[in-house]
Amino acid sequence: MYIILLGAPGVGKGTQAKMIMEHYHIPQISTGDILRAEIKKESPLGLQVKSVLERGELVSDDLILQIVDQRLHEADCAKGFILDGFPRTIPQAQGLDDILKKMGIHDLKVIEIHVPAEDIIQRLTNRRVCSQCGTIYNLIVSPPSQPDICDKCGGPLLQRDDDKEETIKNRLGIYHDSTAPLIEYYQEENHFFKVDGKQSMEAVFEGIRTILES
Ligand code: AP5
Ligand code: MG
Repeated sequence: MYIILLGAPGVGKGTQAKMIMEHYHIPQISTGDILRAEIKKESPLGLQVKSVLERGELVSDDLILQIVDQRLHEADCAKGFILDGFPRTIPQAQGLDDILKKMGIHDLKVIEIHVPAEDIIQRLTNRRVCSQCGTIYNLIVSPPSQPDICDKCGGPLLQRDDDKEETIKNRLGIYHDSTAPLIEYYQEENHFFKVDGKQSMEAVFEGIRTILES
């Protein structure tokens, strides 16, 4: 099962990727998570991209394609994967086409999750993420049972540096300009699907499951 989750910041790509991963036992490949892990480690790559993420801008296509190409060749990707937050530009989508062709993968499903922009700011300003296990919370719809502590692993919950209102607006603008054109790119092929991301997390997952099993 080879899946791309496409959608603006905050539509629930990470939330759904984790649900798909648990259900189908295929890895979530989030370029955002990979970059944030490098920043946390203060690796050369992390130091190079830190300010780009803080501003909500995009890391260069070459660098992202290099990271993804390497990651997709790891053993856990042999039976499938969920791409979350990649591709994000037309050159990234073209680069992915080349990688998949070389890997002999043809049965890719692209699922766009759609949520109106006005709901996104509310979702992202209320997001908290476990700094240990990555579980995603929302202070309004899915709060942790104890404030700032992860229910799953007891780790501390943090707010992402790019979840400030001004940066969220910048990210949404960049999505509109650079990533939304991918909808048309993938719509031309018959493996493009759309789900309404405004429903409950469980209802969105049911929609995705129906697509994946069709
Ligand atoms: P990335 O980490 O990919 O961030 P993003 O695309 O902005 O998306 P988010 O992670 O913010 O949202 P999400 O859709 O995963 O939502 P979530 O499930 O958490 O990228 C970060 C940065 O890295 C980029 O800005 C860029 O700098 C760089 N980068 C990454 N990939 C790149 C690439 N390919 N090229 C270049 N640069 C790249 O949910 C959000 C909130 O909503 C949570 O609180 C959640 O609990 C809640 N929620 C989820 N589902 C529901 C629901 N159904 N109902 C109500 N609330 C819900
Ligand atoms: Mg995410």
